[in-house]
Amino acid sequence: MAESTMNLDEFQRLLWGFAGHRVITVAGRTGILRQLAEKDCTTNEIASKLDLDALATGKVVRALTALGIVEAEGEHYRAAAGLREHFLPGDRDVVPFLEHSHAMYERWGETLEPWLRGQDWPIADRTPEEVRRFGAAMRAMGAQMARRVADALDLEGVERLLDVGGGWGHFAQAMCRVRPGLQATVLDRPEVVEKARAELAGTEFEERIDFLPGDYLATDFGSGYDLVLFANILHQETEDRAQELVRRGTVALAPEGRVTVVDFAIDDEQRQHLLGALFAINMRSFGDTWSEADIRGWMAQAGLDEAERINLGPDRWIISGRHSNR
Ligand SMILES: C[S@@+](CC[C@H](N)C(=O)[O-])C[C@H]1O[C@@H](n2cnc3c(N)ncnc32)[C@H](O)[C@@H]1O
Repeated sequence: MAESTMNLDEFQRLLWGFAGHRVITVAGRTGILRQLAEKDCTTNEIASKLDLDALATGKVVRALTALGIVEAEGEHYRAAAGLREHFLPGDRDVVPFLEHSHAMYERWGETLEPWLRGQDWPIADRTPEEVRRFGAAMRAMGAQMARRVADALDLEGVERLLDVGGGWGHFAQAMCRVRPGLQATVLDRPEVVEKARAELAGTEFEERIDFLPGDYLATDFGSGYDLVLFANILHQETEDRAQELVRRGTVALAPEGRVTVVDFAIDDEQRQHLLGALFAINMRSFGDTWSEADIRGWMAQAGLDEAERINLGPDRWIISGRHSNR
């Protein structure tokens, strides 16, 4: 049995994790994080600018400092240098994701225990406002990930990309940016495609990205792609469906092409990697944080016998498979 050195003090810190999460999402929702990213300020200045209670603002900002999100000098505070750009409006902004994270906290509170007791953890019917918020959240975080993936992948020779469940085309755009001449097809649900198309109209990518509205479990992928991408898709599907998606992605490849999976990382036994193990719960009974062995296995079954993994920081990976005899 692998020993753990956890003691009661550390255990209590873990229990208070809920409070740290709430402090962060509320600081995002109320504008505190934006304020601290713009310039250094005192807690009274923040409270007065945002019309918040001064005592409560002081406590929240000091807790953000203890969490390492904010730096302090005397009475002045500023968002940590590595985070500032992510709290300001623009293409690095992740504040919309904090709205989503705030809502996830509510949902976990209501549904984790009933699920554990055998009830469904239903996918809630979302109001139009919730759909908008979810879209903004996925885009905000997805765009950061997309940039990193486009930089990490060797896209030499990639001329045609199929992005399965590609959302608003943020991965396609990131790859078009680093790979001149790339043409991308983004397959997603018709309601997502409609909005994505409207947003892309008139931009530099309009001619390079087209959309395939449909259900990725049923819609024909087409053929001749140099890269078929599943970014944050396989985790939302059962093992059988995920395997079938990889198989169909493989069939859609050009001879030299590759299937690339971008997703949360986890160890093979799914019990050491904290974020991966927690995210697996978020996928309830319909999906999972799939291990590298699972993904490589599906690739091998599909005939992709050469696979490689690139780590994207500690919690995500890119796993690509191709035919060795290409
Ligand atoms: C978690 S998001 C990932 C978006 C993007 N690939 C990324 O990594 O940021 C999942 C995407 O899959 C799409 N999706 C879910 N089920 C789908 C289905 N059956 N057919 C087509 N798209 C689907 C959603 O609309 C959404 O855009």
